[in-house]
Amino acid sequence: MGNLLEVDNLAVSFTTEAGCFRVVDDVSFSLAPGQTLGLVGESGCGKSVTALSLLGLLPQPAGRVEKGRALFQGEDLLTLSPQQRYRLRGNKIAMIFQEPMTALNPVHTVGRQLMEVYELHRPELNKAQRRQAALTMLRRVGIPEAEARLAAYPHQLSGGMRQRVMIAMALACEPELLICDEPTTALDVTIQAQILHLIRELQRQNNMAVIFITHDLGVVAQICDRVLVMYAGRSAEQAGVFELFEHPRHPYTRGLLASIPRLDRPGKTELPAIAGQVPSLEEQSAGCRFANRCPYSTEVCATQPALEQADSVHHVWCHHWRELS
Ligand SMILES: Nc1ncnc2c1ncn2[C@@H]1O[C@H](COP(=O)(O)OP(=O)(O)O)[C@@H](O)[C@H]1O
Ligand SMILES: [Mg+2]
Repeated sequence: MGNLLEVDNLAVSFTTEAGCFRVVDDVSFSLAPGQTLGLVGESGCGKSVTALSLLGLLPQPAGRVEKGRALFQGEDLLTLSPQQRYRLRGNKIAMIFQEPMTALNPVHTVGRQLMEVYELHRPELNKAQRRQAALTMLRRVGIPEAEARLAAYPHQLSGGMRQRVMIAMALACEPELLICDEPTTALDVTIQAQILHLIRELQRQNNMAVIFITHDLGVVAQICDRVLVMYAGRSAEQAGVFELFEHPRHPYTRGLLASIPRLDRPGKTELPAIAGQVPSLEEQSAGCRFANRCPYSTEVCATQPALEQADSVHHVWCHHWRELS
């Protein structure tokens, strides 16, 4: 099966008063239609920056793509003109952010904004059908009294409700690629489950590919096919979801999985605390970035680990993975 998206050796830097820092370095992944890739790692490891760079939404002028390419249906997203990118966004590629960046338009009702999406994407629908489709989508993302909400303005909704409207609008586009950046973190567990279910259903219907950024390993287990674990801007490990949970190779992944939700201890599990802290940008060394927290680190870890293949679809960036397997 051909890939929908192929990201190769992506590197992104930020220039701040303290200097210029690589915050994403040599990150590669690919995604076939219908697949879900999880991007996992502690806060600050470069997940959002990776997503933003694909969409041409890096904060300007500080953020810059230094290297790499991101082929989407054969076109490099990183070199598209703003107009070309604008045409892709919200059409073939949709995104959902935890803090909606593309805020809803405050002067139009929810119904009007949602129906506009259908006007663009389902021109065959008449007005009554568009209204019906908008209603159905609002109900599917768990919005109660959907009929009344159609007439509401964004400021009349709670934050969680606005987030669900954003999700409804993203899904109404029937995108080929959906990028979700912690989309359900602020929502309660029932609504979260409902939205994950909806995303999966649309995946089955439309063969939509999804990049799902989360720090919730329970969500990863539920929704992802493959997982890329990132640490301090670099890849640590990439594998199929079952393989990763069953045979984690990287000490960092092992740390993350140490408190995976268990059947006898259900509930939401966030990334557990691994002793120590992610190195700040200023203190990032030339070697393995996890070395200062890693129980297995030795002198060799002062050099950067190269990609090693535990098998053809399981990649690990660690000098010691063989000894740990
Ligand atoms: N606008 C910015 N200016 C400077 N540095 C930034 C900016 N946005 C993010 N960064 C830095 O980039 C790194 C990765 O951030 P981010 O991708 O947001 O992490 P994550 O989404 O994994 O929590 C962090 O070290 C963060 O401090
Ligand atoms: Mg983030």
